[in-house]
Amino acid sequence: MPFNHYHPLLLRQVPGGARTALDVGCGTGRFARHLAATGLAVDGIDPDPAVISAARALGGGVGYRQADVTTADLREGHYDFISCLASLHHVPFATVTKLRQALAPGGVLAVLGLGKPRSAADLGKWLVLGPPVNLAARAIIAAGERLNGGPDQTIAPRVRGETMTMTEVRRESARLLPGSTVRPLLFWRYLLLYRGPAMNRT
Ligand SMILES: C[S@@+](CC[C@H](N)C(=O)[O-])C[C@H]1O[C@@H](n2cnc3c(N)ncnc32)[C@H](O)[C@@H]1O
Repeated sequence: MPFNHYHPLLLRQVPGGARTALDVGCGTGRFARHLAATGLAVDGIDPDPAVISAARALGGGVGYRQADVTTADLREGHYDFISCLASLHHVPFATVTKLRQALAPGGVLAVLGLGKPRSAADLGKWLVLGPPVNLAARAIIAAGERLNGGPDQTIAPRVRGETMTMTEVRRESARLLPGSTVRPLLFWRYLLLYRGPAMNRT
């Protein structure tokens, strides 16, 4: 299921007075364009040339960069808001350290992630309940998109990387992003939020 219905929740995490934002694994840029529409100067980064060229074609005032976040140069202490929507599981979780360093003082890192079931019972719930609820949610989202002028152009991205259990996400978040919170969402999705110290500029 796409993560688009979480965009309003994510937009509410942008700190007051923010001027700059980075969307990591931006895909075709739908969320990056939402951020830009609020007046932020937004960069979008994604290694997939097809999605970046589709994002550029859609415009919306975002600066797109075709790059892998793990190797790209990110300006330290620069961004007031950094988002990762359904993209962190494509890279080592420790990449959050690099993102933390790219936050301006008081900046917010928001990760909308996908956890993995941690037990056979958990997996059973996922297999039994997941598909019908997913289908129903897709139908509702598709209806909403039709009302709003149709869906964005989408391109299936290449997928690699490991999905962590929620327990692992909580443990690694506490270790690498002290003071962060991990809020479970429906169907093994989670929202990880970290706010950098107010005087963090390096
Ligand atoms: C499931 S898609 C999500 C796209 C978009 N964030 C959304 O919510 O629609 C995951 C995205 O992460 C990108 N990605 C994969 N590896 C990446 C990396 N090393 N650095 C940055 N982005 C990456 C993929 O190319 C893909 O566009």
